[in-house]
Amino acid sequence: MKKITLSSELEELLPEELNSAERELLESAKSVSKRAYAPYSGFHVGSAVLLENGQILQSSNQENVSFPTGVCAERLVLGYAGANFPDSAPVMLAVVAQRRGEEEWAGVSPCGICRQTINEVENRFGKPITLLILKSDGNVLRIPGISHLLPLKFDDLNQ
Ligand code: THU
Repeated sequence: MKKITLSSELEELLPEELNSAERELLESAKSVSKRAYAPYSGFHVGSAVLLENGQILQSSNQENVSFPTGVCAERLVLGYAGANFPDSAPVMLAVVAQRRGEEEWAGVSPCGICRQTINEVENRFGKPITLLILKSDGNVLRIPGISHLLPLKFDDLNQ
């Protein structure tokens, strides 16, 4: 028997430690979260993606009375990016969330399906996507690629 330890590398940044591109992307995610369609959960998520060509795309979560039909903000924005900008790699993705009626930001980390989606986009373009996650205390987690959030993923043993 061999013991294997998997490790992840995350950085936690104070707001003033963010560079201007990171700040802009988080602001974009915050603004689009205000347009979430989340009547069932009351959890308003915003995600923004920076493409290699400098363009920023954004989306919120869009729910459905048939719950599994709803789509997370991250998956929607990455789907839109792939559909409309197939030649420009997403290089950074920000995600933020806020509960309905609250002023403060809630912490949210991409769900499992979104992690798998991010993985697919990384593989498609052959480069990692830096993830920015806003914590409820205002600090930001910076993660240098999905492998740090999704260890031993579907394709890891298949190379
Ligand atoms: N949600 C996202 O948009 N992104 C995530 O990473 C986690 C969850 C959405 C799905 C649902 O509309 C609401 O948040 C509550 O789970």
